[in-house]
Amino acid sequence: MLVLGIESSCDETAAAVIDGGNQIKTNVIASQVNIHAPFGGVVPELASREHLNRITQVVDQALSDAGLSLSGIDGIAVTQGPGLVGALLVGLSYAKSLAFSLNKPIVGINHIEGHVFSVVFENPPIEYPAIALIVSGGHTTLFLIPAPEQYAILGRTRDDAAGEAYDKIAKLLGLGYPGGPVLDKLAQAGDPDAARMVFTIPRMSGNLDFSFSGLKTAVVRFVKENGIEPVQPGESAGADIVNLAASFQEQVIKSLVGRLKDAVARHPPKTVILAGGVACNSGLRRAVTEAGFKAPVYFPSPLLTTDNAAMIAAAGYPKLLRGENHGFTIKAMASMNLANFALEGYELTRKGPYRHQD
Ligand code: KG4
Ligand code: ZN
Repeated sequence: MLVLGIESSCDETAAAVIDGGNQIKTNVIASQVNIHAPFGGVVPELASREHLNRITQVVDQALSDAGLSLSGIDGIAVTQGPGLVGALLVGLSYAKSLAFSLNKPIVGINHIEGHVFSVVFENPPIEYPAIALIVSGGHTTLFLIPAPEQYAILGRTRDDAAGEAYDKIAKLLGLGYPGGPVLDKLAQAGDPDAARMVFTIPRMSGNLDFSFSGLKTAVVRFVKENGIEPVQPGESAGADIVNLAASFQEQVIKSLVGRLKDAVARHPPKTVILAGGVACNSGLRRAVTEAGFKAPVYFPSPLLTTDNAAMIAAAGYPKLLRGENHGFTIKAMASMNLANFALEGYELTRKGPYRHQD
């Protein structure tokens, strides 16, 4: 079965064709990073307009590089939410029009579920129960996945997402957007001892939630108190910023890996999944790989870690395979819950079957 995936939830216009649920035929990504970089973050209105400019070309290229015409696909999977509503609308409207004109089934996909499925292409099949840590610019959530497409939330950020903290700190330091890759690179050359005592992450007793806004505030204060100047265009970062990056990154990783270790200890999984843009982080990958889990750790290669449509197609595959068709009334959802199970104490309670939201 050939699935066309379409993703437009944030600042990547993406389309992909996958075969049999885990083989990528094409994976086309048009990034808008250059458009948003001068603003230090994604500007929603600019994102919507750019998706409009690119969507036809991106979908055409995904199909033609796969040697397919539109009629050659068996179904469409499109990101329904969460994300920027104007941006989502572009991909969703385009996908619905295609499904209508071709008379093919369409499924609306939760973007976070897409990130979970991003590991299916380059790893052995996921064994369940699995634990997934999805860390991106918009989300930091720990899931228990007792069986395919069943999700219970073990912990989530109470304020900023980890990627958001990276992007905000990078903006403050004049390091551009997105902040993750550049801070990661600097951190590798820095000394985390420089601000280790100042940057600490709160420990929320007993639960597996995250919080990054206190760390962000501590960085802002440290920068002010130590008279650290932002990097000017064309200049490279000095030792103070390199060391700050290392201290900041060490705390982020400590928090993420600490909660992940607790989750694995409480609910021993057969697979550990690390995905979402921040899963590109070299230090995080190393720390999770070296955490000594009995279960194998799966993460995607960098191109599949940040937003792409192959992962959306992969999440759509099992739904299309069992004959789901969400029809033409599905709506874009700025916030969209993935959990269809609840964890009460350590007991898993079914909240209902997995259903798309319209
Ligand atoms: O998954 P993604 O492409 O978009 C969302 O769904 O949010 O994630 C983008 C985020 C950005 O915040 C970016 O700074 C972060 O992932 N990121 C990284 C790295 N590469 C990308 N954060 C830390 N280290 C990296 N190497
Ligand atoms: Zn994402």
